[in-house]
Amino acid sequence: MTGTGTPFESHFGMPIFTWRHQHPEQERTFVASMASISGTENAAVAKAYPFGELARLVDVGGAHGHLLATILTRHRRLHGVLYDQPQVVASAASSGFLARPELRKRSAVEGGDFFASVPAGADGYVMKYILYDWDDDECTNILTHCREAMAPRGRVLVVEHVIPPGNAANWGKLLDINMLTLTGGRERTKEQFAALFARAGLRLKRVVPTACPLSVVEAVRR
Ligand SMILES: C[S@@+](CC[C@H](N)C(=O)[O-])C[C@H]1O[C@@H](n2cnc3c(N)ncnc32)[C@H](O)[C@@H]1O
Repeated sequence: MTGTGTPFESHFGMPIFTWRHQHPEQERTFVASMASISGTENAAVAKAYPFGELARLVDVGGAHGHLLATILTRHRRLHGVLYDQPQVVASAASSGFLARPELRKRSAVEGGDFFASVPAGADGYVMKYILYDWDDDECTNILTHCREAMAPRGRVLVVEHVIPPGNAANWGKLLDINMLTLTGGRERTKEQFAALFARAGLRLKRVVPTACPLSVVEAVRR
């Protein structure tokens, strides 16, 4: 690290998300690889958290909607919004995760930039593998948009590794180095998530473990 950006930026001359945007083939491969990893995790996430308590859930940075489809399939009264970059949601239909008529009726797809805004009025904002891409200022920006957009008793649900105390081996610690070199983001401990939420006017309410290495970190307005 030189202090002027990530090793990825030093080599490619731009942030990784900009580079992928300019390389659609790589973007497609990346989205497909995330969906593939997610295939081993999303059922565990959908089962562990009581998403059925919500009426409308926005999947912030939801790629092609694999997680949202898994949650909507399990909770049949819930409505969902898939939110990601315009060029990503433009090809979401090709993956077919939300294609079943039963899911299409209860879902909407919206393109946008979570640094500018997120869809308003939902009572749940889930984001899986999002905050680990970004530094604390950028995460505060995303979380603040969620707080401003959400319904009065809304919740923000961050699905990530929560790094445990101590020096034991942990997959999340390896990803931490990956994020440092590629995106400038990081993995976080429970205390670090709590501090981030506080900066965005939110309060960490609880950490819900799942049967996979990810946890659901729940936050509400302070
Ligand atoms: C690591 S992937 C996670 C995808 C998905 N949530 C999952 O768990 O498989 C990060 C996602 O954030 C999206 N993203 C990045 N920057 C964004 C922005 N400014 N606005 C909206 N989405 C963005 C990417 O397109 C990508 O789908």
